[in-house]
Amino acid sequence: MHYTTEELKEKIKELKSRLSVTVVAHFYQRDEVFEMGDITGDSLELAKKTMEDDAEFVVFCGVGFMGQSVKILSPEKRVVMPKVACCAMARMIDSLYFDESVAAMEKAGIPKENILPITYINSNADVKAKVGQMGGMVCTSSNAKMIIEKALKEGKKILFVPDRCLGQNVARMMGLKSAVIGQDENLADADILCYDGFCSVHQLFSVEDIAFYRRKYPGIKIAVHPECDPAICEQADFVGSTSQLIRYITELPEDQKVAVGTEFNLVNRLRPKNTYVLSSTKPECPTMNETTLEDLYLTLKSIEDGEPINEIFVDEETRKWAKVALDRMLAL
Ligand code: 13P
Ligand code: SF4
Repeated sequence: MHYTTEELKEKIKELKSRLSVTVVAHFYQRDEVFEMGDITGDSLELAKKTMEDDAEFVVFCGVGFMGQSVKILSPEKRVVMPKVACCAMARMIDSLYFDESVAAMEKAGIPKENILPITYINSNADVKAKVGQMGGMVCTSSNAKMIIEKALKEGKKILFVPDRCLGQNVARMMGLKSAVIGQDENLADADILCYDGFCSVHQLFSVEDIAFYRRKYPGIKIAVHPECDPAICEQADFVGSTSQLIRYITELPEDQKVAVGTEFNLVNRLRPKNTYVLSSTKPECPTMNETTLEDLYLTLKSIEDGEPINEIFVDEETRKWAKVALDRMLAL
């Protein structure tokens, strides 16, 4: 049976009122899915707010590592995802590649006990667990600088995975030296050693795009996410995580033009006027966009029918160590 968007919204609201569920939606979700969220936010806000929620089921509209993080932090909750879509960046590293990165650092003369790993939250549970076991922690784009600052106090070299750009951008902001494993020589000279992962969506923005907007609208502000290449961030007026970008842009004077380098769904609902997408290619995150209103409806229906689909499970040993890495971040 085919329902219209409005019919689906009504059915979802009805199911939500009958069931012990909380619908959680990331800012990058399609508008109509985002609108159904009881809890909305960026990855850090979602992890924190969901921990405090007491519904039996969390229906997570986002990408795989986000649903997994909820399950890791609150194993008593039943977490289901309308689509278990895996973030392309998180898919670039697994525990084997993590071990290879540690081995490359050892080969460059850095002993394992001098390595402190930090993983961006955009990674799967097995990588977070490896990081937890080695005394490291998780960060998000909102707190990466603060987490790296604290970590450096231990006097160790930082292994930063999986986002090369976030690692390099934070290093630049802090006046530190970074190197990319597998690309740069002299790894031992760097303070932050980055894994060579990246977000394909945030690679769409170019220095030519910035030059185009600056030429077309003199005085325009350029605001970008730190997953963009360092060459982009260096030229931007503002670099910030999803929540930081929202705050910066919504607080600009109404007539201030701004071109934004981050995911399309978010930029599109930010501000009615004077806001541009900093790319001629629509920067949609394919995996975030996989979740449709119909998927959300079918997931809620499966809970009502007693056979929840796409439930997230993490084995206990992995969960234990991944939680250690997440808890170290939350404690800061
Ligand atoms: P936030 O941590 O800003 O929510 O970003 C998550 C993400 O996937 C950005 O591409
Ligand atoms: Fe992953 Fe990039 Fe999508 Fe964010 S925008 S979820 S980093 S693929």
